[in-house]
Amino acid sequence: MKICRTKAEMRDTVRDWRAQRETVGLVPTMGYLHEGHLGLVRMARENADRTVASIFVNPTQFGANEDLDTYPRDEARDLKLLEQEGVDAVFLPGVEEMYRPGKPAYVDVPELSGILQGALRPGHFRGVSTVVTKLFNIVTPDLAVFGEKDYQQLTLIRQMVRDLDMPLEILGHPTVREADGLAMSSRNVRLQPAHRQEAVALNEALDKAVLAAKARPTIEDLETVVKSRLEGSPSATVESIDIRDADTLEELTGTLDSRAVVLLAVRYATILLIDQRVVAPDF
Ligand code: PAF
Repeated sequence: MKICRTKAEMRDTVRDWRAQRETVGLVPTMGYLHEGHLGLVRMARENADRTVASIFVNPTQFGANEDLDTYPRDEARDLKLLEQEGVDAVFLPGVEEMYRPGKPAYVDVPELSGILQGALRPGHFRGVSTVVTKLFNIVTPDLAVFGEKDYQQLTLIRQMVRDLDMPLEILGHPTVREADGLAMSSRNVRLQPAHRQEAVALNEALDKAVLAAKARPTIEDLETVVKSRLEGSPSATVESIDIRDADTLEELTGTLDSRAVVLLAVRYATILLIDQRVVAPDF
């Protein structure tokens, strides 16, 4: 497995593969890998001849009060896991390699970056769309894989690729869960033990939403179903419950009569967990 710490090394590596007419799949990550990331890697390997994983804790997607400094990192373990998965190359740049000082250019998808999680984390999605564009330009993949768990991120990246005619395919990978249903996340290890147990509430609330949606409830009633399960978790602070159009993330009102996505953001002490589920009425 090749380790590329500079853009030039990464570009040279891909150029050699392209000379052999091989296709390239990219899995962008911020490291501290878990089974969820490895699912993305497997999907990339199934769909491309060569797989690149990037590990870069992107400072521009963290707000001033967010957890950039304490974001968990374990490069040696990550590299071992990626090697075991048969990844061909890892792009591991430092911050100076990725960003020049000053106020560099950025990419934004304003329609999607300021809503939902974007309204709670100003600048976050602009940081994501910018770094993902840079990774696409450096690696030039034929396809890139992102988790459905970060549903707004996936929707935004799909729109960015479509609107800016970026020549690659975006694949969404279903959320990978712990045995008790908690969506896998690098943040889970930082939950206090009691909070870790309570955090199953997110998945259970979404399971209830799937069942309730079948009977064409009003959006308000669907939200009440979700909320009442989350209220059964005494340490949870519910930051948001949003029920939006599954494709556009537009707001929905009245009776549920099409596919919707239920998006949850729930905080346990300082740890913000997100989860989502697509629900639909019985047609
Ligand atoms: O989902 C993530 O881990 C990050 O937002 C991403 C896509 C790697 C960009 O930094």
